[in-house]
Amino acid sequence: MGILIVFASLKGGVGKSTHAAALTAGLLDRGHTVRAIETDPQGSFGAWADETAAHHESLDSIFMDPKEADFESTNEQIVQLCDGPDFIVLDTPGNANRMTMPALYSADLVLAPFSLTEWDIEGFNRTKETYQKVFEAMNEETPDSFVGLYVGTVRFISNAEREKLENLSETAFIRKGLTHSPHISNWVEACRTPAQLDEGILPVEGSRPISNAARNKAKNAIYEYTSKIAEVFDAENEPKG
Ligand SMILES: Nc1ncnc2c1ncn2[C@@H]1O[C@H](COP(=O)(O)OP(=O)(O)OP(=O)(O)O)[C@@H](O)[C@H]1O
Ligand SMILES: [Mg+2]
Repeated sequence: MGILIVFASLKGGVGKSTHAAALTAGLLDRGHTVRAIETDPQGSFGAWADETAAHHESLDSIFMDPKEADFESTNEQIVQLCDGPDFIVLDTPGNANRMTMPALYSADLVLAPFSLTEWDIEGFNRTKETYQKVFEAMNEETPDSFVGLYVGTVRFISNAEREKLENLSETAFIRKGLTHSPHISNWVEACRTPAQLDEGILPVEGSRPISNAARNKAKNAIYEYTSKIAEVFDAENEPKG
């Protein structure tokens, strides 16, 4: 069975889809097979994955319709979809839909991006509570698979912010997500894995040009972030081939 990584946050616009795309790209570049699952009809991750899968045989892209979801059958479906690839990356919408609970329940790792704003922190805490509720409802112990991804800005962190992070890390594991940087958004718009950009595969139509320096910055950020997530799974940490 592959490892299921779910991006979740009950607050919208925190960077779920961006991190899902970056992680998928990093895993592909490391030689893993990946299945991308979109659960938001308006989702940008699915569009990115469709576009990228057309150039990458190690990736497939699947849409699961939340309208048809109920807890039990969706769980079964998700488990079936985990058979095959090394990693399954599933993105959820900002306002939880019927897919969110089964996805949280089945996940090997739940990643919840947040910045250090009041609203993001509130959203983060609500997401963690929802995660715990799924297991309470099932009369099961909550696993240690919930990880907050701190989306850092380029400026230095203040003492007050450091304190906020420390407080949050008392309730959940916190890892560093992608730096909040225009290079990352440019890279997402170019819609390719970092290695493919180097190989000169044309970016998606209408995307902004990305300079070599910006590409390198985005690439390093994506690889660093991917290795940190991969470290969570010791056995799977070694790149294949
Ligand atoms: N690390 C980053 N650096 C720069 N821009 C970013 C970063 N992460 C996200 N963004 C930008 O922030 C916006 C929201 O990001 P994204 O769509 O990934 O959030 P989301 O949590 O998936 O939103 P939704 O809840 O609507 O699905 C996008 O315009 C994206 O380009
Ligand atoms: Mg999204």
